[in-house]
Amino acid sequence: MIGVFDSGLGGLSVLAAISRALPGADLLYLADTAHLPYGAKSDDFIRGRVLAIGRHLANCGCSTVVVACNTATAAALRALREQNSEIAVVGVEPGVKPAAASSLSRRIAVLATESTAKSAGLARLIRDHRGEVAVHVEACPGWATRIEKLDLNDPALASEVSAKILPLLEAGMDRLVLGCTHYSFLAPLLEPLIIGRAELVDVAAAVARQVVRLSGESTGSDGSLKLLATAKPERLLAALPALGLGWLAARVSAPAQLADI
Ligand code: DGL
Repeated sequence: MIGVFDSGLGGLSVLAAISRALPGADLLYLADTAHLPYGAKSDDFIRGRVLAIGRHLANCGCSTVVVACNTATAAALRALREQNSEIAVVGVEPGVKPAAASSLSRRIAVLATESTAKSAGLARLIRDHRGEVAVHVEACPGWATRIEKLDLNDPALASEVSAKILPLLEAGMDRLVLGCTHYSFLAPLLEPLIIGRAELVDVAAAVARQVVRLSGESTGSDGSLKLLATAKPERLLAALPALGLGWLAARVSAPAQLADI
């Protein structure tokens, strides 16, 4: 079984990519909704949550655990790997490398939570992959929480997003890296703003390919999806259609459950 987790709904963007790549695999999604947003919390707090959830997923029988959260990956991926050598651990890092490699203007922006924006992991990623490209990091406080509320058609969110994005476009940035898995769900808002001027860079499909490489073809599984949350588990199933993922609901094998972690 493949376990995928995030602070909340954001990791569903990664889960969807994994589900497309491995339609026969058994999947377990865990949302740490009692503790979101991670992006405004300390590294120590996030590390504690990641280690507890990773252990829980391993105890549930997951042989692969996907940290479908840039913030958690930056704060705790190494610790999770060190403490769980018996499972394969996959993280999510902002797509600085593909963005820098494809930028024509040689200017790119990374949109991320406050925690990821100031992380050593992102600084290293930029240092290793920027080449001659100028990389601007834009923290987007509050965006993940707004997405959790599913108020994606709220005009106030649209104007907040465009107030952030237009100056980046005016500064010539032609790649916008979605450095938080929640932001994939802003694509319908972002695409019309950037059309003809910039492209979004999302790593969900690349993460799914990495999961396929590590977990191989699944045998003895029936393509089920189990949903767990540390608070309000019923919201997960309801969120799927609101996020354009209604097709994933067909894989859900049982009512979403509360996870006491
Ligand atoms: N989805 C998470 C990420 O990729 C974080 C959202 C949060 O702040 O909880 O960074």
